[in-house]
Amino acid sequence: YLHRLGGRFLAPAITYELIAKDERTGARAGIIHTPHGSFETPIFMPVGTQASVKGVSPDELKDLGAGIILSNTYHLFLRPGMELIREAGGLHKFMHWDRAILTDSGGFQVFSLGDLRKITEEGVTFRSHIDGSKKFLSPEVSMQVQMCLGSDIVMAFDECVPYPADYEYAKRSTERTQRWAERCQRAMTAPQQGLFGIVQGGMYKDLRRWHAARLVEMDLPGYAVGGLSVGEPPELMYEMLSYSTSLLPEHKPRYLMGVGTPDHLVEGVARGIDMFDCVYPTRVARNGMAMTWTGRLVMKNANLEHDHRVIEEGCGCYACRNGYTRAYIRHLVRAGEIFGLRLLSLHNLYFLEEFVRRMRAAIIEGRFESFRSEFLAGYDPHRK
Ligand code: GUN
Ligand code: ZN
Repeated sequence: YLHRLGGRFLAPAITYELIAKDERTGARAGIIHTPHGSFETPIFMPVGTQASVKGVSPDELKDLGAGIILSNTYHLFLRPGMELIREAGGLHKFMHWDRAILTDSGGFQVFSLGDLRKITEEGVTFRSHIDGSKKFLSPEVSMQVQMCLGSDIVMAFDECVPYPADYEYAKRSTERTQRWAERCQRAMTAPQQGLFGIVQGGMYKDLRRWHAARLVEMDLPGYAVGGLSVGEPPELMYEMLSYSTSLLPEHKPRYLMGVGTPDHLVEGVARGIDMFDCVYPTRVARNGMAMTWTGRLVMKNANLEHDHRVIEEGCGCYACRNGYTRAYIRHLVRAGEIFGLRLLSLHNLYFLEEFVRRMRAAIIEGRFESFRSEFLAGYDPHRK
C-alpha cells in the first residue's frame, strides 16, 4: 500500500514484519519499521506525557532498550503549544530523542475531564486544566498538532467509551468516532507519519465488529484497541480483546492502549497484541514501589530496612547492575530523595522492556505457553 503524493510513490511510513507466531495462542513476534528506526515487538512504550519520561533522560531510555516512547497531544497542545514545538524543529529535536515517537490524539485525555468538556459532531470544547481558558480539539486540530509534533505514529481522535455505558450511548459514540477517524485520514497529509485507527465499541461485540470492519476498510498502517482497562473486570477485558484482535489484519501492528502491568501484558500478547503503553512503571516508582517477577515491592516497608540485596537478583538495570541495595533505596525514598525515585523508575522501565524481550524470545523459540504459565504461577498482582 504505497502512498501517491505529488505524482511520486512513497514507501509507507510505518510497516510491520511478522517474524514468528505462536500457533496455540496467536502471540506474535515482529519488527515495526519507522522513519526513526525499527524496533522489535512485542514492545512496551514508556510514557513521556509532557515531552519527558519523568526523571529519565533519553540516553537512559536508550540504555534500557526503549525503541519508541509515547507522548500526548493534549498536554503539549496546552503547554508549550504547537508553535513553540514547530519552532524547535518538532518533538524529536525539542526533547532530544531520535528514536520513534507515538502520540496519542488527545481524545482520551479530554474525555477524562468530566464536566469541563462538551462534545459535538465537530469536536470537543473544554477548559484547560492549566489556566481554565477555553480550548477546542477536533480530528483536524489533533492531526495539525500531531503533524507539528512530527511523531512517527499518530493516533486517530476518538472517544473512549466509558464503562459502564448503555448500548445506545456506545453505538452513537462509536459511530461518531468512526466519522472522526475518516476526517483524521483526510487531514493527515504528512507522508512520513502513520495514522493508527482505534477500535472502540465499548463492551459490545457487535459494535466492536462493526467498528473494526470500518477501520480495516480504511487500510491504515496500524490499529489500536481502545476503550479497555477502563474499570471493567479483567475477564471482560480479555474477552473483548480476543474478539477485537481476531478482526484485525495479520500484517499490521496492533496496539492495546493504556495497559502496562506484566500480567496484563502477557495476556495481551497471548491475544495477538504487539504494542503497549502505560504510566504504571514510572508512576509506581514515584510512589516508592519496585516491579519484580513476583510482584511489587513497597520500598518503605520495614522488612527491607536491613535488606542489603539489590531489587532483583540478575536484573540488568542501572540500579541492580551497579549494586544499589533495597536498604539504600528504602532510605532514599523515606528521606524524600529524588535519586531514590529515579533508581526505581530506571529499574521498573528496564523490567518491562526485559519482560517484553523475554516474551519475544519465548514466541520465537516456540515456548510462549510455558513462559506464560510459569510467569503467572510466580506472580502476585496484589502483593503489597
Ligand atoms: N488510552 C487508553 N485508552 C485509550 C482510548 O481508548 N483512546 C485513546 N485515544 N487513548 C487511550
Ligand atoms: Zn533492576
